[in-house]
Amino acid sequence: MIDAKHERRFKTRSFAGTMNIAERVAEILLPTPRLVILRGDLGAGKTTLVKGIAVALGAAAEEDVTSPTFTLVHEYQGTKVKIYHLDLYRLETERELATLGLEEMIADPTALILVEWGEKFPSVLALATGEVAIENLGETERLLVIGVR
Ligand SMILES: Nc1ncnc2c1ncn2[C@@H]1O[C@H](COP(=O)(O)OP(=O)(O)O)[C@@H](O)[C@H]1O
Ligand SMILES: [Mg+2]
Repeated sequence: MIDAKHERRFKTRSFAGTMNIAERVAEILLPTPRLVILRGDLGAGKTTLVKGIAVALGAAAEEDVTSPTFTLVHEYQGTKVKIYHLDLYRLETERELATLGLEEMIADPTALILVEWGEKFPSVLALATGEVAIENLGETERLLVIGVR
């Protein structure tokens, strides 16, 4: 967990539950945290949460948000916020990371940068101002712990 000043917890019991809670998660994450690490095992619901946040911020339709596992970065322009969705699962070195242009994303004052597997890289952890840890409690039950620096 990042050194969080504030922590909030939500439990959800389904995909739809996570989609619904995403608007409240987005409210907690905005406007202060700009770079948010999404933690959790494969299938925890990290990409699902991004889907919900993108819909809540008017940035994308549910079906348009897909996992950037291979493309590494997806961008969704919302009404006020631009979402950058990153998945660093397949990335191995800080050098590869440097090619993604994270600095430019952070320089965008309207950016909300959501990073799956960001905790793999100390440099990303250092930049993080928020974190959502998703714990798999059962087949469809998830615990979301939101920390904001
Ligand atoms: N409560 C829940 N919240 C989010 N996803 C859920 C939930 N219950 C079941 N699921 C399912 O778990 C999977 C989560 O996948 P995904 O969001 O891609 O995870 P990740 O990005 O963490 O690997 C989806 O198939 C989704 O339908
Ligand atoms: Mg994912």
